[in-house]
Amino acid sequence: MKILLLGKNGQVGWELQRSLAPLGEVIALDRHSQSFCGDLGNLQGLAATVQAVRPDVIVNAAAHTAVDKAESEPESARLINALAPGLLAQEAHKLGAWLVHYSTDYVFDGSGSQPWIETDTPAPLSVYGQTKLEGEQLIAAHCSRHLIFRTSWVYAARGSNFAKTMLRLAQERERLTVIDDQWGAPTGAELIADVTAHAIRQAMAQPQAAGLYHLAASGETTWNGYAKHVLAQAERAHYAINIIAKEVAPVPTSAFPTPARRPHNSRLNTAKLQATFGLQLPAWQQGVDRMLAEIL
Ligand SMILES: NC(=O)c1ccc[n+]([C@@H]2O[C@H](COP(=O)([O-])OP(=O)(O)OC[C@H]3O[C@@H](n4cnc5c(N)ncnc54)[C@H](OP(=O)(O)O)[C@@H]3O)[C@@H](O)[C@H]2O)c1
Repeated sequence: MKILLLGKNGQVGWELQRSLAPLGEVIALDRHSQSFCGDLGNLQGLAATVQAVRPDVIVNAAAHTAVDKAESEPESARLINALAPGLLAQEAHKLGAWLVHYSTDYVFDGSGSQPWIETDTPAPLSVYGQTKLEGEQLIAAHCSRHLIFRTSWVYAARGSNFAKTMLRLAQERERLTVIDDQWGAPTGAELIADVTAHAIRQAMAQPQAAGLYHLAASGETTWNGYAKHVLAQAERAHYAINIIAKEVAPVPTSAFPTPARRPHNSRLNTAKLQATFGLQLPAWQQGVDRMLAEIL
């Protein structure tokens, strides 16, 4: 099997380089790649890459993920999050290839408190969410052999992440203030990449598995609960850091105004994914604790 991986150095892309390796030959590109064009902002170059590589599967982990910046550069966000995935879908369809793509809980407006299911009506609050939704729609319109995974609150050991920021602040300040009215599940890039590899194998044998899936770790929390868990786990495991924070105070989203609105309810119901692929998604704490063990 030949796999074309785009966005190889992002959180998910990096882990996909590992998880896809046993499936076959992986041609992994980022926007600076010299061998082939891996720039999602260059539609002509991207089409030429697919036509030259002739992959069996395209996995697109590249995206315009700067949620606030997208508000002031909607054209660029739309090019990368919607038009490029649409182009990939057209090129995949011509080859009879599969397209695997990632989307987001930000396609929803965050109302209510029930976990969203795949058939719930999207109503994005931000340019990022709108462009990601358009990307989903273009893929579905152009390539039936697709897997789209909507995920949430992605973190990885590599690079910066929310947990690292909380650990740093907790060593500098006695009191942290963290939002407690946005609900979701922190989901590790490792888990997303492992599920992706499993799903690709199954979908190639059972093409009826094509479609849209919610993929997030089990359970739910707020950013405040997430921060408290990180600090408690760091103390429990006796990591060699000096936490001076005594309080993680809950504050509403309005305490931290941002250009882009975020959904309050980012819970994703993953029953469809677990049933279709015979998988069990672990509790969010499991991946976070593992990431802490790696970074501390
Ligand atoms: N992060 C989250 O919390 C989250 C939540 C829900 C869904 N998702 C979705 O999950 C997927 C993976 O996200 P992630 O967390 O791995 O994101 P990430 O770490 O920000 O990685 C995105 C990658 O896309 C690359 N990229 C940006 N513009 C590009 C372009 N024009 N051409 C080629 N590559 C480009 C970036 O490269 P540079 O570093 O060079 O810019 C980066 O390596 C995305 O589809 C995202 O929308 C993420």
